[in-house]
Amino acid sequence: MSLSVVILAAGKGTRMKSSLPKVLHPVAHKPMVQHVIDAANELNAKQVSLVYGHGGEQLQQALSHNEVNWVLQAEQLGTGHAVKVAEQHMPDEDTILILYGDVPLIQSSTLDRLLAVKPENGIALLTVALDNPTGYGRIIRDNGSVVGIVEQKDANDEQLAIQEVNTGIMAVNGKLLKQWLSNLSSDNAQGEYYLTDIIAMAHQDGYAIEAAHPDNEMETEGANNRVQLAALEREYQKRETEKLMLAGASMRDPARVDVRGDVTVGHDVELDVNVIFEGKVTLGNNVKVGANCILKDCSIGDGTVIEANTLIDQADVAEKAQLGPYARLRPGSIVKNGAKVGNFVEMKKSILGEGSKANHFSYLGDTTVGAGVNIGAGVITANYDGVNKFKTEIHDNAFIGTNSTLVAPVVIEENGFVAAGSTVTKPVAKDGLAIARGKQRNIDSWNRPTKG
Ligand code: UD1
Ligand code: CA
Repeated sequence: MSLSVVILAAGKGTRMKSSLPKVLHPVAHKPMVQHVIDAANELNAKQVSLVYGHGGEQLQQALSHNEVNWVLQAEQLGTGHAVKVAEQHMPDEDTILILYGDVPLIQSSTLDRLLAVKPENGIALLTVALDNPTGYGRIIRDNGSVVGIVEQKDANDEQLAIQEVNTGIMAVNGKLLKQWLSNLSSDNAQGEYYLTDIIAMAHQDGYAIEAAHPDNEMETEGANNRVQLAALEREYQKRETEKLMLAGASMRDPARVDVRGDVTVGHDVELDVNVIFEGKVTLGNNVKVGANCILKDCSIGDGTVIEANTLIDQADVAEKAQLGPYARLRPGSIVKNGAKVGNFVEMKKSILGEGSKANHFSYLGDTTVGAGVNIGAGVITANYDGVNKFKTEIHDNAFIGTNSTLVAPVVIEENGFVAAGSTVTKPVAKDGLAIARGKQRNIDSWNRPTKG
């Protein structure tokens, strides 16, 4: 049977105190609702419908790379009404899975379990037992079977004592769901069309309702305000850092490592505190990352050591390289095996060849550096004339003396040597020496200035 998913996201989210629609508030740099869409996609859903009410333009822009059916619920008349407005995207023969745009930690493994217990024509309902069930719809059972849900505001004292609650997530047969939704009434304490009322209808019609439970109750928590959002963020980070530790990364303090993307690690990786990963990051075996590093969209080869306060963005670093402290690799940086990028060295669209070193205070922009090259302290490649960018080539075993400026376009051939303090504007030949600096004059007898 195929699966159609409906995600409810029409709530205003007033308590966020924000001009951003609630479901666009991020967990790990990704909108909450995107986490939910991703979970739906992991289930290979045939279609995903998003029921929205506010900030339609903002939502469509932020989620533009997704294929979803956009369904406007102009007025929020309750969860039952919200599902009903997506009716045209609920084929009779499909299983309809209902998810929530502000419940981002839901795992596809839990949803798989929910779908697995769904009776042929009945309903599968995700429930949890809570120490404090206040606020939630309570699960009514008769002889162990689920027969209904009573909302907090409609419940009597006996029902309020029930600890098993409705997470809201359920899977229902498409044809029956539409039939039950058309019979909903708003005759209840909140004057809303409750989706939860379909449970009692299904029971009365003789269909079974089976409950499944999440691995972890945080999976079904929503965020109504920024305090709850921060709690979801912490839970997400806990989950992600645990995965990395189980894959072979040691962390001085897992609470001070943040994963905002897809990270894979090899064995015996060591992460110090305040490390942030963004985008797609791959760390090989025995990689060490010092304190306060941000690694974004990069791959780091085996045995590379990244010292404190290093920033990496869209770069490839090979094996046994050494970066930092305070190195900055900008997009298009490639650091080959055993190369060193030291403190206050910035690279952009540049290659640093095998075993080459730029140890102190340098800028390498649009530059290709061969193997075994020494880039002295303070060397700058002047790649920009204010309008265009130009390239610098530094071939194998060249030596660029301290505080030199290489004005691009320029080539330093193999084994070329640039004397310290040079401003190089012309090519330097193989094995050649370039000295391009003011000549020193020594004046023997001179009078030091004195106070007037
Ligand atoms: C709902 C359930 C309750 C459950 C709880 C779990 C109903 C009647 N009650 O209660 O049993 O324990 O969730 O959190 O379903 N929404 C819309 N359009 C609407 C109304 C709601 O899109 O017209 C969306 C909201 O944005 C929200 C979700 O549906 O994401 C739940 O709505 P909410 O009003 O918060 O339901 P609860 O009262 O929490
Ligand atoms: Ca709610």
